[in-house]
Amino acid sequence: MMSGRRLISVSIICLLGFGCLFGNLAHATENKLVVHADQGKHEISRFIYGHFAEHLGRCIYDGIWVGEDSPIPNTRGIRNDIVEALKQIKVPVMRWPGGCFADEYHWMDGIGPKEDRPVILNTQSGKRPENNHFGTHEFMDFCEQVECEPYICGNVGSGTVEEFSKWVEYMTFGGSSTMADLRRKNGRDKPWKVKYWAVGNENEGCGGSMPPEYYAYLYRRFQTYMNSYSGNELYKVACGPIGTDFNWLDVLMEKAGDYTNGIALHNYVWSGERTQSSINFEEDDWFFLLRRSFRQEEFIKRSIEIMDKYDPDKNVAIIFDEWGAWHEEVLPGMNPYDCYQQSTMRDAMVAAIHFDIFHRYADRIHMANIAQTVNVIQSIILTKGEKMILTPTYHVFDMYKVHQDATYLPLELECGEYTHEAALNQEVSGDSRDRPYFDHFGPLDKIPAITATASRDESGKIHISITNIDPNKGATVRCEIRGADLKKVSGSILTAPKMNTHNTFENPDALKPEKFEGAKLEGDKLVIKMPSKSIVALELS
Ligand code: AHR
Repeated sequence: MMSGRRLISVSIICLLGFGCLFGNLAHATENKLVVHADQGKHEISRFIYGHFAEHLGRCIYDGIWVGEDSPIPNTRGIRNDIVEALKQIKVPVMRWPGGCFADEYHWMDGIGPKEDRPVILNTQSGKRPENNHFGTHEFMDFCEQVECEPYICGNVGSGTVEEFSKWVEYMTFGGSSTMADLRRKNGRDKPWKVKYWAVGNENEGCGGSMPPEYYAYLYRRFQTYMNSYSGNELYKVACGPIGTDFNWLDVLMEKAGDYTNGIALHNYVWSGERTQSSINFEEDDWFFLLRRSFRQEEFIKRSIEIMDKYDPDKNVAIIFDEWGAWHEEVLPGMNPYDCYQQSTMRDAMVAAIHFDIFHRYADRIHMANIAQTVNVIQSIILTKGEKMILTPTYHVFDMYKVHQDATYLPLELECGEYTHEAALNQEVSGDSRDRPYFDHFGPLDKIPAITATASRDESGKIHISITNIDPNKGATVRCEIRGADLKKVSGSILTAPKMNTHNTFENPDALKPEKFEGAKLEGDKLVIKMPSKSIVALELS
C-alpha cells in the first residue's frame, strides 16, 4: 500500500500538471534540445513503419488467418480485429511469406482450390504441417483490407529462377499468358501492383548457406528474369548480411550493387544468454537491452560507410527488413519454434530508440519491418482464441505514425546519461554473439538517458517524440525550436508503473497512451517534464 507521505508528493506533482501517470519525477535530470525547424532536407519514408508476417509460429495461422468458417469475425478468413488494428496505425507495407520460410516456400502450392493445395512441412516452424491455405491470393486480400503495400520475399535457396520469374508474371502481368490466365482462373482478373520483391532471405544461413560471392552472382541471375509488367515497376531487394557480417555487405555491394534498388539488413537486439524472459527481468536486463538498441546506430553507420564506398550517391537503399527485441523464451504450453513472447514497457523503449535512429539515416533507409506483426518475436498484436491485445510496441507505432512521409528535422540533444552498476561490473555475456561488432566499436558503458526525433508534416505541424530511458528518474527537457513560430502544443504519453508492465488478455489496457499535460510553451521555449521510463509524442502548431 502507498504510504501517506508518498501519496501526497505524487498528488502534488500531478497537480502541478507534470503529466505524472506512474513514473517518478523526483530528481529529474535537466536536458536541452534544439530542433532546427528550418533545416529539414530528407523525408522519413513511411515504409520505415513497415511490418513482417511469416509462416512461423502463430503469426499467420491463429494470428492473421482463421479461415472462412471460424466463429471469430473474419472477412474471407482474415481476422477483422487485426485488420482494424493495423489500419489504425497506418501500416504502409507488409513483408511475406518469410523469413527463413521464404526459401522453402513454393508459391504454386498456395494457389487454386484450398482442398487441392498440398500439405508441406514447415521446417522453420518445428516441422509443423502447413496446409497452404494462406497463399498469394489470401495475402494480397489481407494487404488490400489493411490498405498497405505488399513486399514479397521470393525463394532462392530451394527455388528456381523460372519459379521466381513466373510468380512475378502471375501477380503483375495484365495481358494474356499462361501465368496471368491462371491467376484469372483462380479468381483475380486484374493484375496486382507489387512493387517490392526480395531475392531470398538470409542466404548465408537458412536461405542456402551461401558464401557472399556465390549469392551476389546468383542474385544477378535471378533479378535478370524479374520483369516489370503492365506499368508495375519492380523494386528489387538483394539479401544482405545476417547481423554484423560486414564482409557480406561489402562483397554484395561490389558485385551486385549496380543491379539492385535495396539491400536487406537484419539485426535483432537479443536479451538471450541473460534472462531469456520477456517479463521477468531486472534493471540490468533493461540497461543491457536498451544499450543494444542504441548500438544499432553503430551498425547502421558502419553499413552505410560500406555502401557509400560503392554508391556515394545513395542510389541503393537500406531495407532493414527484420528488427526487434528477441527474448528467445519458451513460455509454458508454447512450441520452442513459436518465438512467442510478451512485450513490455522495455520493448516499447526498444521500438522508440529504433525509430529515432532510423529517422537520422532517412536519406539511406527506405524501409524497415519489425519482426513480427502477430504472436511472433516483438509483436504488436497478440491473440488467444477470439481475444486480441495490443502490445506497448503497437502503441509506439501509433504514437509515431505522424512521422510517416514527414520531413526529418535535425536536432541537437544535450542530455544526461543512464547507466546501471550491475551491468557495468559484469562481463555481459549476451554481447558474445556479436563479438566482432562489439570489438570494433569498443565498450559502451553508458547510454543517453534521452532519445528524441522531430519532423514537420505536409500541413506544417511539427511533431517531436521524446523518450526518457531512465527507469528511476524523471527528466526535464528544455526545447528550443528554431525557425518556427509556435503557439499550441498537445501530446500523449506512454508510461508504466514498472519496467515490465504489459498488457494481458485479462487486463488489455494496463499500458496505453494517455493525454500528456507536461509540455508548456514558455515564450519561445518549450518545457517538457516527463516521468521516468516514458515516451512522449508532441504536436506543435
Ligand atoms: O523472424 C524470425 C527469423 O529470424 C526469420 O525467419 C529469419 O529471417 C531470421 O533469422
